[in-house]
Amino acid sequence: MRGNPLRRLPVPPRDRLGETWREARPGRIRRALETAQQRSPGGWHVVGASSDLAADRSLVRLVDGREVALWRAADGRALAGPGACPHLGALLDGCEVIGGTMLCRWHGMARGERGRRSWQPYAAHDDGVLLWVQLPTPGEEPTDRPTLPVRPSAGASFATVVAVRGRCEPSDVIANRLDPWHGAWYHPYAFSHLAVDDDASDDARLVVDVAFRVSRRWGVPVRAQFTCPDARTIAMTITDGEGAGSVVETHATSLGVDALGAPWTVVTEATIATSARRGFAVARLLAPLLRPAVAATASRLWVDDLAYAERRAQLRARGESYGV
Ligand code: FES
Ligand SMILES: [Fe+2]
Repeated sequence: MRGNPLRRLPVPPRDRLGETWREARPGRIRRALETAQQRSPGGWHVVGASSDLAADRSLVRLVDGREVALWRAADGRALAGPGACPHLGALLDGCEVIGGTMLCRWHGMARGERGRRSWQPYAAHDDGVLLWVQLPTPGEEPTDRPTLPVRPSAGASFATVVAVRGRCEPSDVIANRLDPWHGAWYHPYAFSHLAVDDDASDDARLVVDVAFRVSRRWGVPVRAQFTCPDARTIAMTITDGEGAGSVVETHATSLGVDALGAPWTVVTEATIATSARRGFAVARLLAPLLRPAVAATASRLWVDDLAYAERRAQLRARGESYGV
């Protein structure tokens, strides 16, 4: 076991922080986003945490303006189909599920794995942490399964999933994460001593050395890499330091547009934490590492990052462009 992961790393005063805008080149961020967007998700969209879906109740999620009902087969597999009952259109949310059959709440029409003429199921996948559904998506060739980031083994990790909504497109969420240079400036409560390793980075991978803040004096330095397994996902993997092998997956799913035509996106973030440490020590020592991702700081991070993503969407809607 290694020693204490905490390092005495006082937060630099703001006037000594050093500008990062020169490194945060707009063309570089744009190229990384374009590279990510070339990775087809194969029509797969994250619709929540595996733990959201009970064995005995259906739920409905919105994907790109489409209502999608999810429920579980008798063997626990996730199943999906259109969210409106083909009889009179009841929302198939919160329906009883008995032996893998979903019963409509209005008149009890039973839905199983097999479709009917007017109601065809969608492919669904439960990867153990997240639920996915596959929908016909323009420009995306369907694949058998979603492309998952490399994760620590389920037995040696624990996962936390949180979802937040913002008024932006999925690409705005990914673009925000492809700008790591904002970290120490915009989230000083969560990060400091952030440096992008240009030699190890390219348009498909950003390698960053950063300290997670525990207090104004103490931080946990790690090396992390950002990659996009598909156009709607960005994964931050800790490659060195405390919690190496842990991954924070950020999945952006379009909900569609609101009444005014503005886009809505839900960000589903899965933190899958692992550590070489064992037992009680794991929980205790992972706490500082996880604090930025799963505790109080997290909501601030998400609020701030969503504000960044929403600002991108707002500028686009106003026809303004910067850094071109
Ligand atoms: S609306 Fe579903 S069974 Fe009537
Ligand atoms: Fe951020």
